[in-house]
Amino acid sequence: MKTHTILFTAAFGLSALCSEAQQKVTIHDKEGEYTISKHIYGHFAEHLGRCIYDGFYVGEENKAIPNTAGVRNDIVEALKALKVPNLRWPGGCFADTYHWKDGIGPKEDRPTIVNQWWGGVTEDNSFGTHDFLNMCELLETEPYLSGNVGSGTVQELIDWVQYTNHEGRSPMADLRKENGRAEPWNVKYWGIGNEAWGCGGNMTAEYYSDEYRKYATFLSGWSNDSGIFRIASGASSSDYEWTEVLMKNIKHSLIEGMALHHYAVIDWNAKSSASDFTEKHYFESMESALEMEELVTKHSAIMDKYDPDNKIALVVDEWGGWYDVEPGTNPGFLYQQNTMRDVMIAGTTLNTFNNHARRVKMANLAQTVNVLQAVILTDEEKMILTPTYHVMKMYNVHQDATLLPVEFDNVDYTFNGKSLPALSVSASRNKEGVVHVSLVNIDASESHKLSLQFDDVNVRGAEGTILTSKKLQDHNTFENPAKVAPKEFKDFSVKKGNLEVELPPFSVVVIALK
Ligand code: AHR
Repeated sequence: MKTHTILFTAAFGLSALCSEAQQKVTIHDKEGEYTISKHIYGHFAEHLGRCIYDGFYVGEENKAIPNTAGVRNDIVEALKALKVPNLRWPGGCFADTYHWKDGIGPKEDRPTIVNQWWGGVTEDNSFGTHDFLNMCELLETEPYLSGNVGSGTVQELIDWVQYTNHEGRSPMADLRKENGRAEPWNVKYWGIGNEAWGCGGNMTAEYYSDEYRKYATFLSGWSNDSGIFRIASGASSSDYEWTEVLMKNIKHSLIEGMALHHYAVIDWNAKSSASDFTEKHYFESMESALEMEELVTKHSAIMDKYDPDNKIALVVDEWGGWYDVEPGTNPGFLYQQNTMRDVMIAGTTLNTFNNHARRVKMANLAQTVNVLQAVILTDEEKMILTPTYHVMKMYNVHQDATLLPVEFDNVDYTFNGKSLPALSVSASRNKEGVVHVSLVNIDASESHKLSLQFDDVNVRGAEGTILTSKKLQDHNTFENPAKVAPKEFKDFSVKKGNLEVELPPFSVVVIALK
């Protein structure tokens, strides 16, 4: 596959050219073979800290914050503008402790649940299945429900499927109707447990494969004619053995997606501040983030071995930067700021996913509101969009577009004698025929000049957006919510049908060709 060969060159940068030089980037605009699934641009909302409660959901009785059925209207509007294709819920680790029947029916009758993984707080279950699925309708996004395998039962999970999806009469569909919802929601995406190797039950890959087979069988009947998309709990980062065992042991008629989780972390025991960091921290974060290229390449290669026809999707359903929590906040709530470093993580990771569109068909940034690499932060009635929000919005032009292979020799970003590939590029052509190119320069101090050359298109003009800032540590606050915001990109010129651009240090640019 040409795309993969090209990617290897791009990601592991074989040559280090001087930053004065102009890098030739060839975009094979006649060769598009794969569609970049819009589901690569998915998000994740766990019952964790202030993501659901005091994030998305402020309660029906809240008069200070405008809401629809308790869900903040400002968040709904912001996420609709982002074109969120799917939203994963209720976890994460929380999913394997969650009993969905505790979250339906009159709110005053619902039992409480202690969130054992995240701060030990007691939740009142006021945000449950109806609340989430109705919220997805407001957001115009597809729900992705993460089922409880660790502490649940097969019966509990198939009851959930029947409750959400069965149209005619049945005990669960009747219960749903009693609870005020006549029509099924027809949930397509179902996760069968989460991190089964860890908080999901500390299982071995062999044991989980057997559990998976059992759950997947009852979830879907003889031939899965209801079209449920079953996603197996996948590997952590470079645990290739996990993927190998699952691909070997799970019948392929029982699985549509294989998950993978990878966070950009400096050191799990010393993650360091999200906004008060040095270039050394930045370099190490990017080292961890850029590992995604290798991870996706190698997990895909294992999947190719067992599934050469590419039927099973690689689903990176948790990714993003993970730092220390903000000073003074609950350590179990994972509330962190979001800077230009996160812009670099998002831009490069999304380019990796785009370029691996053949196998990566879904992904979920962790997490949407107030947790980890959030796109939205809230403080009572205030809400801000983080720099990562802007990247996700700039990149949504690639959703469901045709991937165009890209070829270039990378340049090095060197710090303390170590090097990383400075540039990251992906390109696509949308249904209207418009070519978009997303470019990232992670170099902390050097700008880079590129010449974008196309096999077919003779460039006549372009328009673009840039996201950059003065300092890597820059971020948006409730007092200064637009410190990091996209601007029109003007640093380009058209020469002999090529597009010449200059990418400033730590910048993301998305260009539409004319
Ligand atoms: O996203 C936070 C946590 O990270 C999730 O609950 C878990 O799946 C992962 O370890």
